[in-house]
Amino acid sequence: MPKIYLTTPLYYVNDQPHLGHAYTTILADVLTRFYKMAGYETFFLTGTDEHGQKIADAAKQRNKTPLQHCDEMVLKFKSLWEKLNIGYDDFIRTTESRHISVVNQALQNLYEKGDIYKSSYTGWYCVPDERFWTEKDLVDGNCPDCGRKVEKLEEDNYFFRMSAYQDWLIQYIREHPRFIEPETRKNEILGFLSKPLNDLCISRPSNRLSWGIPLPFDPQYVCYVWFDALLNYITSPGYLTDQEGFQKWWPADYHLIGKDIVTTHGVFWPIMLKALEIEPPHTIFAHGWWLIEETKMSKSLGNVVSPEYLISEFGVDQFRYFIMREMALGQDASFSIESIIDRINMDLANDFGNLASRILTMIRRYRQNKLPEALENGGPEEALITSSNRLPDEVFGLIREMKIHLALDRIISAVRDTNRYIESSAPWELARTKQDKKLDTVLYTATEVLRKIALLLYPVMPEKIERLREFLNSREEITLTSARKWGILQPGTAVDHKEILFPRIEKALHKTEPETPKKMETPKKTDYLTFEEFKKLDIRIAEVLTAEKVPDTKNLLRLEIDLGTEKRTIVAGLAKYYQPQEFVGKKIVVLANLQPANLHGIISEGMLLAAEGEDTVKLLTIEGDIPPGSRIR
Ligand code: ME8
Ligand code: MG
Repeated sequence: MPKIYLTTPLYYVNDQPHLGHAYTTILADVLTRFYKMAGYETFFLTGTDEHGQKIADAAKQRNKTPLQHCDEMVLKFKSLWEKLNIGYDDFIRTTESRHISVVNQALQNLYEKGDIYKSSYTGWYCVPDERFWTEKDLVDGNCPDCGRKVEKLEEDNYFFRMSAYQDWLIQYIREHPRFIEPETRKNEILGFLSKPLNDLCISRPSNRLSWGIPLPFDPQYVCYVWFDALLNYITSPGYLTDQEGFQKWWPADYHLIGKDIVTTHGVFWPIMLKALEIEPPHTIFAHGWWLIEETKMSKSLGNVVSPEYLISEFGVDQFRYFIMREMALGQDASFSIESIIDRINMDLANDFGNLASRILTMIRRYRQNKLPEALENGGPEEALITSSNRLPDEVFGLIREMKIHLALDRIISAVRDTNRYIESSAPWELARTKQDKKLDTVLYTATEVLRKIALLLYPVMPEKIERLREFLNSREEITLTSARKWGILQPGTAVDHKEILFPRIEKALHKTEPETPKKMETPKKTDYLTFEEFKKLDIRIAEVLTAEKVPDTKNLLRLEIDLGTEKRTIVAGLAKYYQPQEFVGKKIVVLANLQPANLHGIISEGMLLAAEGEDTVKLLTIEGDIPPGSRIR
């Protein structure tokens, strides 16, 4: 059985996980699920990096011991991974004894070999901050953190003889073009290595920083956090403790990381391994950054987006889909609420969700929820069968090349082809003209393609796809093999459309529409609104009494309106386009009998009507004078 070992970075527990951490972890999960579907045995490692100054500082700020602090923060990571359906095989903490023991043995080994030596070190110390800085850290000669004066300090430390391995590493990278990916990151490392490589200071005197693993050969010092943390990748599969496990999984196939930590992974780590006589990992893959308005999202900048918020606002699978589809692996991507809504509405609501709804709705309407048999395959069916049989290998090929966004794009384009097939075969016309066999054929073919496509989306959206499989009553294994096969769903199977899988998201309100079934077919005369239906709409003129921004939202306004007979509160997503005061005294048009909705804790009773242009929204108002409450007919 082929196998694959994937890792994420071990995240620092100085703060809560944000979108960036969620991204790398979801990426690892999606890859793992794809490889599993392709028949691989998989091992997926994630965890937390818990030693060092950053963590000690964070704990101190919260009045906790470092370990108490870590224990609490780890739960936040674990609970987020659970919400995101992350199926890791091992979660390692650098404070665990299995890890500390590997770090000890590695340090001792390298010390005895002479690859770790003691030497004096000159640096700059910020007394109030109790922080040690190197010459190049300083800003105008002062502490880069607090701006205060620093003292020159000479202290003895332990160094790892990296310089001795510089030539080896350059050659290794040249001979292994897939060792650092993508290419730009490889070139960055080769550039870094074109200058002389310094030995790495791997100790901190414990009277300055005690939160770390003591050096086994000199307990007056603790180990530098990176030297400790990187070793986790070999601790987990069993280095020095489980020879069989270690042999089986090491070298790792992919260390997935962000581009912020390429040097530690592309330089320190392979040299550490070489010195320990362990094979380097197969590929270090560095993705780009999620940016917010052109700057990196990061804890230290405080511009982070909370994954929990996005999950609750848009749904877990929608969020997973968005971040996998939106970022071209290796490049940076910008995050905005608008882009997530657009992506969900386009790909999931309009294309994929709509395909599922229209097929299942037609089977309900025309065949009482029983999957019919295809007896009249023609050209269009043959074409769809062939392309859908090829699709799984095309998609997995892109996954192997780490082109996740293109793999998803390929899948959605197959969805669009299937939607077009339905439109051009017009099942509603076949039903009207009683071409039963042809209608059966179209319904079966579309359903079977939907089943196959859905399997390919499983790694990205496991919950939604499981749900769709319930609708389709399909219980075959989730493998690439079953996605390649045609004809797994049996005619006569009972199918059902239990709910809309991906409701459209109303951009103006960041809010999901109520679950009204979407129109499934090309409009015909019978799809017009009847006058009776129109009469149900209670559209009225209202006067705006007060208007204010809803705190903690970007675009929501809270309006108090006079509806003639009563006063009401409505919430409108217009703060991007109007100042609150522009509303006061205006006569606006309101749909008064819309089901009330809770928007950011405010009950909105009714909806203000506005016209949506390409990148603007304009309010509907009334010409001339007419009292609030007047009905629109
Ligand atoms: O560096 N965009 O931990 P860390 C994309 N403990 N990914 C991002 C991101 C962003 N804006 N911000 C963070 C550490 N990440 C060390 C690692 S490994 C032995 C030790 C992701 O908490 C990305 O994977 O700072 C990045 O490399 C990682 O989080 C850094 O996490
Ligand atoms: Mg970081």
